[in-house]
Amino acid sequence: MSANDTAHRSLDWSTVAEGWDSNRQLVETVKTELSRQLVEGLALTPGDSVLELGAGTGEFARQLSAAVGDGGRVLATDYAAGMVELIERTTADLPNTRAMRLDAADIGPVAEPFDAIAFRFGLMLVPDPGTALTESRRVLRAGGRFAATTWAAPEHNMWLVSVGMSAMLNGMVSGPMPTEPGGPLSLGDPDQLEKLAQVAGFSEVSVKRVDVIFRTRDVDSHIAHVTQMAPPLKAAYRDATAEQRDGFRTSVAELVKPFQTADGLALPGQALLLLAA
Ligand SMILES: C[S@@+](CC[C@H](N)C(=O)[O-])C[C@H]1O[C@@H](n2cnc3c(N)ncnc32)[C@H](O)[C@@H]1O
Repeated sequence: MSANDTAHRSLDWSTVAEGWDSNRQLVETVKTELSRQLVEGLALTPGDSVLELGAGTGEFARQLSAAVGDGGRVLATDYAAGMVELIERTTADLPNTRAMRLDAADIGPVAEPFDAIAFRFGLMLVPDPGTALTESRRVLRAGGRFAATTWAAPEHNMWLVSVGMSAMLNGMVSGPMPTEPGGPLSLGDPDQLEKLAQVAGFSEVSVKRVDVIFRTRDVDSHIAHVTQMAPPLKAAYRDATAEQRDGFRTSVAELVKPFQTADGLALPGQALLLLAA
């Protein structure tokens, strides 16, 4: 059992694997430009071997697979068993890609050196992200490249804050704040992220901000997406009383009102792109 197991128990991502499965298109649309920049930052060439951490549905692994070609190799991993099942299904037709269950904070079972490591929106969920970075560096070949994305500070991510804050205001969630270690908004400071990678031993480190937009039909579809995909919010919504759900919906509607467009909601988000070697 790794040191992260206690924290992960309450945030079991397998409980939201179904939600991630059914929201693949939204996720990939929001992350299109970021995924392009991640692949570009890894400077992949045919024949490379890549480790993906926290691979979720396996959709991004397909892009990595294409970038390294038939002669390359992708090991697409995730800590949640339910997600590993999705990765297996998503990449079943790719001979150069294999799925495996792996904790990013304990890469021990994987000994071989990789040319590159990708971690799309998972580093901040590891209660000790410094360990995940140190472990990543250990299994990278000399000169190998690491690329990750995290969410920037709460004020840049109203798509998530609108739902999380409303759940909090209506007494539906208690416990750690999303900005605390292991939370989705815990690595939102570019300077802190850069320092973390340097302390882990990376020498060429850069962090840049990338804006994204979550487009969704209306308040209810927005609530549905987020509560299907964020483990603590899924549990909170499931367990809420009718009165709490009413107050919650009113609060989300109020918070997202400024982002109403003629075509539905266009909710702002901002990611940090970390590149290190
Ligand atoms: C927000 S989702 C992102 C999924 C995917 N990378 C994407 O961008 O669509 C975070 C993923 O990280 C995984 N995860 C959380 N903690 C992890 C850890 N310690 N090691 C590996 N994966 C982890 C979750 O199971 C989940 O699949």
